[in-house]
Amino acid sequence: MSQPPAKAPRTAPQTFHVKSFGCQMNVYDGERMAEMLSARGLTPAAEGLDADLVVLNTCHIRERAVDKVYSDIGRLRREDGTRPMIAVAGCVAQAEGAEISRRASSVDIVVGPQAYHRLPGLIDDALAGRDAVDTDMPVHSKFDALPGRARRASPSAFLTVQEGCDKFCTYCVVPYTRGAEVSRPWAAILDEARALVDAGAREITLLGQNVNAWTGEDEAGRPQGFDGLIRALDRLPDLARIRYTTSHPNDMTQGLIDAHAEVASLMPFLHLPVQSGSDRVLKAMNRSHSRESYLRIVERVRAARPDIALSGDFIVGFPGETEAEFEETLALVRATRYAQAYSFKYSARPGTPAADMPGQIAPEVMDERLQRLQAAINADQHAFNEATVGKRMQILLERRGRHPGQLIGKSPWLQSVHIETPDARIGDMVEVDIVSAGPNSLAGVVAAARAA
Ligand code: 5AD
Ligand code: SF4
Repeated sequence: MSQPPAKAPRTAPQTFHVKSFGCQMNVYDGERMAEMLSARGLTPAAEGLDADLVVLNTCHIRERAVDKVYSDIGRLRREDGTRPMIAVAGCVAQAEGAEISRRASSVDIVVGPQAYHRLPGLIDDALAGRDAVDTDMPVHSKFDALPGRARRASPSAFLTVQEGCDKFCTYCVVPYTRGAEVSRPWAAILDEARALVDAGAREITLLGQNVNAWTGEDEAGRPQGFDGLIRALDRLPDLARIRYTTSHPNDMTQGLIDAHAEVASLMPFLHLPVQSGSDRVLKAMNRSHSRESYLRIVERVRAARPDIALSGDFIVGFPGETEAEFEETLALVRATRYAQAYSFKYSARPGTPAADMPGQIAPEVMDERLQRLQAAINADQHAFNEATVGKRMQILLERRGRHPGQLIGKSPWLQSVHIETPDARIGDMVEVDIVSAGPNSLAGVVAAARAA
């Protein structure tokens, strides 16, 4: 028997909980929403059911991500029959809009990724019983309306510099949910980076759906590309590490490749999605690069920075993908030797061109291809990790591990490194000797401590 609907809250929320799904930009957006709510006097709650307001910051990229949101909404019900106020933010909010509250009646607020600075007003609307759906893509950037960054940042912080996508890969919802490519202004980015460093960040990861498509003008009005932005950030004192994600092969300029050779704080890591190793599939995906042109970019990047760790994204089972075409993807993986990579089963997204293409692939075929692809990627990842054993490297300590005295940090190549160290603190950059490697992480010993 189904339960009666949980009782909706009637008073202004005092506490909040933000849960972000999906990509790093959602994590960033979630932090900004949390900062905005804190600036309004709300306090964070550790668990959704303890909070007066829960923000589900959603992802629409694959079907399973969407299903997770609805199951989370269903769970937000307390034993006494009440529930928190529920706001659905992020890309599902953008794609489904008011449809969400029809499907899940306990949703009070729907707010898209370009409108979340208006969340406080939407809370008032919801309390007053007014329609609280905002999926506008306003002309004025949300960034101008958000409060400054919080006074404490984690050692490794995210900073959105570019949003949206004009590439329209035929499988992808991002151009519809995040809108057209927009670059944030130079000064706004540098100001935010300075604030993050002042708040304790030692590493900044620049975020964008096509981060390397960033363009702008510097303070003197000179046109600058993404590499110019990186070089300016490199000049910030106390910023030890710069990373960026996600980049598109077609926006890998020579300037950016050169920056990998020349900018010391730019970490030797490149996430460069290719999606498929088959030219026919790449064309059907509207990727606008070929297998060969991708491999040539990889070659040039490796020539500039021989130790660079490469990462990628792959989709198996794109409509019409044959066994032979899938094997071209496997061969590309073997040729490239990724340090890590993400692979996904194709998921038909409503409204995208590929969803209506003939030759949709059976789930069991996709499962089987995914397993083979992941086995190939895992083998390379393990080999990459093994090759670091015996090396000494700088590790930025980011968080506590499970055991007392254990800290977890990141290598320059984005590997997680577990260290037993009672003396060091989170935020320290320490010299570490790598003593062992697993498939997903390394273990190390602080070099100074070992010498002592
Ligand atoms: N199905 C499966 N994977 C997808 N991605 C994007 N859209 C889809 C889809 N419809 C993957 C791509 C992209 C990553 C962020 O998600 O590999 O690079
Ligand atoms: Fe999606 Fe392609 Fe744009 Fe990446 S480049 S966000 S995969 S449309």
